Amino acid sequence: MKILYIGGGFVGACSAAISADSGHETVVFDVDQEKVAKLSTDDRDVIQSCLHEEGLAELLIRNRTRIRFTTSLPEAEQFALQAEVVFMCLPTPEKEGAEGESDLSYYEKAVEMIGPILAKRGDGTQTSRLVIVNKSTVPIKMIDYTQELFERQGVRNFGIVANPEFLVEGKAIEGSIHPDRVVVGAGTEIDFSIMRRVYQRFHDSTAIKYIEVNPYEAACGKLLANYLLFNRVVTTYDVVGRTCEYFPYVSYEQVRKILVADPRIGSWGLYDSVFCGGSCFIKDAGSLAHQLEQAGTHATMVRATLEANVFQRDHFFGRAETEAKVNWSGQTVALLGTAFKQDTNDIRNSGAIGIIQQLLGAGVSVIRIYDPAALPECQKYFNPEKNELYQRLQYAGSAAEALRGSSVTLICTDWPEFKTLAGALRQEAPAPHLIMDGRRIIQADYAALNAEGYSIIAVGSQFMPGAKNLTV
Ligand SMILES: NC(=O)c1ccc[n+]([C@@H]2O[C@H](COP(=O)([O-])OP(=O)(O)OC[C@H]3O[C@@H](n4cnc5c(N)ncnc54)[C@H](O)[C@@H]3O)[C@@H](O)[C@H]2O)c1
Repeated sequence: MKILYIGGGFVGACSAAISADSGHETVVFDVDQEKVAKLSTDDRDVIQSCLHEEGLAELLIRNRTRIRFTTSLPEAEQFALQAEVVFMCLPTPEKEGAEGESDLSYYEKAVEMIGPILAKRGDGTQTSRLVIVNKSTVPIKMIDYTQELFERQGVRNFGIVANPEFLVEGKAIEGSIHPDRVVVGAGTEIDFSIMRRVYQRFHDSTAIKYIEVNPYEAACGKLLANYLLFNRVVTTYDVVGRTCEYFPYVSYEQVRKILVADPRIGSWGLYDSVFCGGSCFIKDAGSLAHQLEQAGTHATMVRATLEANVFQRDHFFGRAETEAKVNWSGQTVALLGTAFKQDTNDIRNSGAIGIIQQLLGAGVSVIRIYDPAALPECQKYFNPEKNELYQRLQYAGSAAEALRGSSVTLICTDWPEFKTLAGALRQEAPAPHLIMDGRRIIQADYAALNAEGYSIIAVGSQFMPGAKNLTV
């Protein structure tokens, strides 16, 4: 099949790569020239520096004859005139200053660009059926608005399908090759049958749940799934972690063992953390809350989950002053991990962004930052030309280099390489020194480091004052 993708970010690029690997001919249209240039190369490192997804580069390079990225509308047009399916993979962030409402402006702009082209199918006769797929996470009633948007551009003889993406960043390719479910929401049998051809390899697999529903249910299922996952992570630290922080002789790891032994509770998400970030959970929960309130009901639980998430980050940061009596003014701080989680270079809504802003607000002199994959994204975000305070950020080539000369270490991302940080700490940042572990990543070394004089604040633990007086 010929499939056009609009938007080649995490979702568009990964989804198109899987389609190409399934034998379809794909073109990905994106407005970001740098991204398109990088994703079009055959250099694995260049692709990885753009979208840090294990296996994506290999898949793109292996399927080059069936996948093209372009910023050229005429090139997209040539292909679009023969395409049977168009996937919309555009950002749907939260509207600035709104109470969770989705910003659909990227979507609307893309329809304005691509709609007039699609209306030219068959020299304007539009006799061939076209399926337009909402792959972006969108409001539940988006299907009606999508129909209206494309009709406004003169597009006819088309069906709108909701096919939400459930990929997990960092494991997107593995997850897309072996998805646990494929959800297709359509209104007509002809659109369902076109989608079965798109996803033939998954439809025919007995290991994958291929779920056909109506488009409202599909969009709703995605928002609710994300909310339940988000709530699980937040409940873990707001209730489980907090209990361990406030009661002596209660170790987070021991309590966790008790909880996960119950198969009804399970283990997913039961890790303490400074913040639940990323591009999806927060904005999708906001969108769900907004939609529930617009529909005339309350969204108390959803709003409370959002609040508890922010509370967790502020509470963690605040413990430095309230428990370790830190005076941030003039300090040199090491910050490890800017990605919102391991195995990605995505820093959208990462815990580190908020912490860096709080550190700058508190008057630190220097923040020495290290992340194995996300430093370029961080440098772009904290552009010193936009704010002179960002000149206080220094970027290091390794964790050890970031630690050098610092009085406090803050760990914000669960990169596996941080598990062995104790050695570098002893070498580069000897006690007295405050370690703030926002991931419990070095929990195996807490007792030894504390005995050596390090003070430790970890999510899910009471404060561990070091034997040596802190100088911060
Ligand atoms: N990232 C995830 O893990 C994930 C998972 C499931 C669902 N989603 C949803 O998928 C959607 C896309 O997310 P993403 O993470 O891929 O976003 P992204 O920001 O990584 O990618 C979006 C791409 O769209 C491009 N774009 C913007 N305007 C355009 C236009 N007019 N024409 C063509 N391209 C345009 C951007 O340049 C960008 O490359 C969102 O709705 C998101 O909520 C994301």
